[in-house]
Amino acid sequence: MATARSALRMTSRMAAMPRPAASRALPAFAQRAFLSGSTAPRKSEVIKETEIPVSVYTPDAKGVNHATSDHTSIPVRRNPQGPPPAVEEEPMKTITPLTNEVYSKMPSTMQKMSVKDKVIIITGGARGLGNYMARACAEAGAKAIVIFDANQELGDQSAAELHEASGLPVVFYKVDVRDGSAINTAVENVVEKFGAPDVLVNSAGIADSNIPAETYDPAMFRRLIDINLTGSFLMAQAVGRSMIAAGKPGSIILVASMSGSIVNYPQEQSCYNASKAGVIQFGKSLAAEWAKYNIRVNCISPGYMDTALNKVPALDAQKKIWKSLTPQNRLGAVDDLNGLCVFLASDASGFMTGSNVAIDGGYTLY
Ligand SMILES: NC(=O)c1ccc[n+]([C@@H]2O[C@H](COP(=O)([O-])OP(=O)(O)OC[C@H]3O[C@@H](n4cnc5c(N)ncnc54)[C@H](O)[C@@H]3O)[C@@H](O)[C@H]2O)c1
Repeated sequence: MATARSALRMTSRMAAMPRPAASRALPAFAQRAFLSGSTAPRKSEVIKETEIPVSVYTPDAKGVNHATSDHTSIPVRRNPQGPPPAVEEEPMKTITPLTNEVYSKMPSTMQKMSVKDKVIIITGGARGLGNYMARACAEAGAKAIVIFDANQELGDQSAAELHEASGLPVVFYKVDVRDGSAINTAVENVVEKFGAPDVLVNSAGIADSNIPAETYDPAMFRRLIDINLTGSFLMAQAVGRSMIAAGKPGSIILVASMSGSIVNYPQEQSCYNASKAGVIQFGKSLAAEWAKYNIRVNCISPGYMDTALNKVPALDAQKKIWKSLTPQNRLGAVDDLNGLCVFLASDASGFMTGSNVAIDGGYTLY
């Protein structure tokens, strides 16, 4: 008997009938759907920085915000590449960081759910979901926020805004998550500045969508796997090593996707789906390996989120289908991961490791 879901799929399938011909007429780059940061070079190349631009925003000696900003570079021990396009992000509202006074009055359960005094590295924090999770961590008590992103302009701007809005130290490293040497160098620099990080949130990622497997350019396939999967590994390795060396417990949060567990409809995106399935299984493996170091590793698997890159007219037809297949009948808001991110970063999730938590408005229920 046809279920409501299959009936919906049939309706959606019919609604989507004219789409393939239309979408396939588009050049491949124009067919990328949600959240793709991959409009830049199409060919596979590993980004190798020779220097890492660092923008440090700290309060001055009297504790006044945004008084000192310091733009420097640190050399990578050994080797470059262009950023994804700029997309307008919502202006930052004032962030009220958790003060010692407020913290001391909070019930112990709420204290445990904060990230008080934690040093938090967030990749992909220049915009989108990563940027909002960075804002949430700043509100929830972080001692310092560190953004790793390949987009120099946006990364610098968002670090400056986050510092101004929160008064916290915020450091931006222009690092590509494919560049292991740059990552190691930047993480070492974080340790020098703040001590070993307590938390890594790996949100950097790209998507190629509406590309049938039979015409998928292998170079593009490799590039996406390199960013989404190998990038998760390189980041986790560098940050994990610094936690292990410091003998410090830690939390690693990998942003995967529901696409790691289901196949999206109607767009064809085998590579993205495979990359996120890899992230989930990598996260579980790492959780098992590193439990002995008291390092927890969990994945967040978002459904369709209303981030900047989904806000393009070419996706309107598909977005209707995505919504109709989501029980909550909406896309996720850009801050819908915030609460889970803070919880997973906090000590309140101390017995949680190896989990993969869906935040998808119910999409994967049917
Ligand atoms: N938006 C969605 O619908 C959705 C759904 C499921 C999962 N996700 C995942 O959430 C994460 C964030 O998505 P988003 O919507 O915020 O995307 P976004 O494109 O708005 O932000 C991604 C950020 O990652 C950075 N980035 C891209 N490639 C990089 C690289 N090689 N090195 C360093 N930084 C790089 C970009 O500069 C950008 O700041 C991604 O991993 C994505 O796969 C998103």
